[in-house]
Amino acid sequence: MGAYSDSYQRSLDDPEGFWLEAARAVDWTREPTRALDTSNAPLYRWFPDGELNTSYNALDRHVENGRGDQVALIWDSPVTGTIRRYTYSELLDEVARFAGALAGLGVTKGDRVIIYLPMVPEAVIAMLGCARIGAVHSVVFGGFAPKELAARISDAQPKVIVAASCGIEPTRVVEYQPIIQAALAITAHQPDKVVFLQRDAAPAELGERDIDWHAFVDGAEPAAPVPMAATDPLYVLYTSGTTGKPKGVVRDTGGHAVALTWSMGAIYDIGPGDVWWTASDVGWVVGHSYIVYAPLLIGATSVLYEGKPVGTPDAGAFWRVIADHGVKALFTAPTALRAIKKLDPDALELKKYDLTKFLTLFLAGERLDPETYRWAHEKLGTPVIDHWWQTETGWAISANPRGIEPMQVKPGSSTMPVPGWDVRILDPDGAELPAGGEGAIALKLPLPPGSLPTLWGDDRRYLKEYLSTYVGYYLTGDSGYRDEDGYLFVMGRTDDVINVAGHRLSTGSMEAVLASHPAVAECAVIGVKDQLKGQVPRGIVVLKAGVDIDEDTLRAELVALVRSDIGPVAAFRDVSVVDGLPKTRSGKILRKTMRGIADGRDEPVPSTIEDASVLDALRAVLVTGN
Ligand code: COA
Ligand code: AMP
Repeated sequence: MGAYSDSYQRSLDDPEGFWLEAARAVDWTREPTRALDTSNAPLYRWFPDGELNTSYNALDRHVENGRGDQVALIWDSPVTGTIRRYTYSELLDEVARFAGALAGLGVTKGDRVIIYLPMVPEAVIAMLGCARIGAVHSVVFGGFAPKELAARISDAQPKVIVAASCGIEPTRVVEYQPIIQAALAITAHQPDKVVFLQRDAAPAELGERDIDWHAFVDGAEPAAPVPMAATDPLYVLYTSGTTGKPKGVVRDTGGHAVALTWSMGAIYDIGPGDVWWTASDVGWVVGHSYIVYAPLLIGATSVLYEGKPVGTPDAGAFWRVIADHGVKALFTAPTALRAIKKLDPDALELKKYDLTKFLTLFLAGERLDPETYRWAHEKLGTPVIDHWWQTETGWAISANPRGIEPMQVKPGSSTMPVPGWDVRILDPDGAELPAGGEGAIALKLPLPPGSLPTLWGDDRRYLKEYLSTYVGYYLTGDSGYRDEDGYLFVMGRTDDVINVAGHRLSTGSMEAVLASHPAVAECAVIGVKDQLKGQVPRGIVVLKAGVDIDEDTLRAELVALVRSDIGPVAAFRDVSVVDGLPKTRSGKILRKTMRGIADGRDEPVPSTIEDASVLDALRAVLVTGN
C-alpha cells in the first residue's frame, strides 16, 4: 500500500500542507494562506482567509481555459423522451442569466433560495445560479409531502422558491404547485416569489406571487460571480435525524470546492473531459456533490438522468445511457442494481449495448450486500466499488481510491478510510476496539474540508448530536468494524435512522405521525430487511383501550397518513396491531429486539424487559403476519 498509505498518512500528519496543496486546483479571488482555523474548536473552519466563487470554478474558468465547446451537461430524460446537451459556454450563459434574474428580485449574498425541482437541467442552473451571487440554496427532494417541505421553508426562510410545475414518476405525474401551496399554508414564513418551470405534463396556473421561469430568465442581464469567503455557506441540505425535525446540514464554499475537486481524481479516477454519470437525485447529497458540483468543478461531462433504472423503458435503461453517452464511470445506489437484477437476473439487456468505454461502477447510499456486489461484478466485468459517506460529510469517508492506488475489493467492505478522514471504532466508553470488534464508527476531529461546519442556525444541535458522545470525535451514527488489513465494514445505523432504497428516513418522524391517529395509544416504527429496497419501514401500533375500529381500515388510514405527512418516499406500507410493545422496566421501547425478530433472527430476551410475554405475540405478527 505505497501511494495510498503515503497520501493517507500525510493527510493526517500535515493536514495544513496536504489541503493547501489540494487547494491549488481551485481558482481563488484571494488565495488562502492557511488551511485550518482551529480558533473556535470543536467548530472548525477551512481556508479562513480564502475567497472564491464556486460557479466561477464550475463554469467560467473552463470556458476561459478553452473548454467552452465541451459538453458540460447531458440531460437524458426517458420520461419526457428528451436528450439535451449543454456546452460549458451554454451552461455558463444560462446560469449567469438565472443569477442575474435572481439578483433582480433582490436576492443577495446570504439570502436563501429553496429549489424544488425534479431531475431537469434547470435544477443545476438554479443551484449554480445561487452560488454565483452567493445565495444559499436548499434543494428539496420531490418525494416529500407538504409538511416536510414546510419544515424546510420554516427553517431556511427563503426569499424565493424555484420550482417546476411537476415531476414525472413512472405511474403518475406529481404536481408541485399544490404541494407548495399546502406547505405555504402552514408556514409563517412566506417567500417573496415562486418561480415555476412550466412542464407540459402538468402546467401550473400562475398566481400573483408566481413567475414563469422563461419570463424570468430569458433576456435577464447576466450576473458576474461574486467573491465569497471560503467559510461562507454554499448550501443547506436537510437530512433526517432521529427526531422529526430535519437537520440543516451546512456546506461551506472553499472546503467544499477543494475536497470535491480532489475527490474526482483521487477516488473516482475521473478527469477533465471524461463522461461521468451519477444516477441519484439532485435532492440528495449524492446528487449535489456528484451530479452537479464535483464533475463540473473539474471540467468533466456530467449526465443528468430523469428516469428509473427499470421500466424506462426496460431493465436495459442504465446500459442504454452508458452506451449512448460513452459513460466512463457510473455512481448509483445498490438498490438500483437490485431493481435491475430482479427484472433481468441474467442481465440479457446488457448484451445489447456497447459498454467498451465503461470502466467502473461506484455504489454508495446504503450497504452493498455481497450478493448484489457479486452479480454486478460478474455481469459487468468491471470493478464494482463500494464507498461509504453521508449527507454531513459531503464526500466519501471510506473508499477504494482508484486514482491513488486501486486496492483489492472485499465484498461487504467500503475498503479504507479516505485521506483526510481519521476513522476510529469505539466501544460505549470511548475506547478503541481492536480489529474485528464492532462498535460506533467515529471520526477524529477535525474533519477534512467539505464536511459540515455546523447545522443551519444551530451550533448547539450540531455539538449535541454529533460531537458530544465522544469528546474529540464526530459520531457518524453508523456501526461497523475494521478487519486485520484495516478494511472498513459498515454494518448499519445505531440510531433511529433507516435507509429505504438509498433514501435516508427517520423512524421517529413516522412514529410521530402514527401517534397522531386518534385510535393509537403507542407505536413503534422499525426498519426491516427488504430484498429490493434494503430496508422498509414497518409500523407496530397498540390501540387505545375501548377503541373499536376495523384493523384494515386503521391500517389504510395510517398508511395514508404517513404518505400525506411525510411523503411517498417513506414507502410506508406495512403496519400491524399488537396488544403491547416490548419495553424495558423503565419504559424504553426495545426497538433492536423488534428489528431482530422482524428480520427472523433468534433474538435473545433482554434481561431488562418488563414483560417477556409480549414477544411471542409480536413474533406471531412480525414473522408470520398473523
Ligand atoms: N418525486 C415524487 N415522488 C417520488 C420521487 C420524486 N422525486 N421519488 C420517488 N417517489 C415516490 C415513488 O413514485 C414511489 O411512489 P408510489 O408509492 O406512489 O409508488 C415512492 O416515492 C417510493 O419511491 P422509491 O422508494 O424510489 O421506490 P420506487 O418503487 O419508485 O423505485 C427504485 C425503486 C429502486 C427503482 C428507486 O428507489 C431507485 O431508482 N433508486 C435509486 C437510488 C437512489 O436514487 N438513491 C438516492 C441516494 S444515492
Ligand atoms: P445519506 O446521508 O442520506 O447519504 O445517508 C447516509 C447513511 O447511509 C450512512 O450513515 C449509512 O448509514 C448509509 N450508507 C451510505 N453509504 C453506505 C455504504 N457504502 N455502506 C453502508 N452504509 C452506507
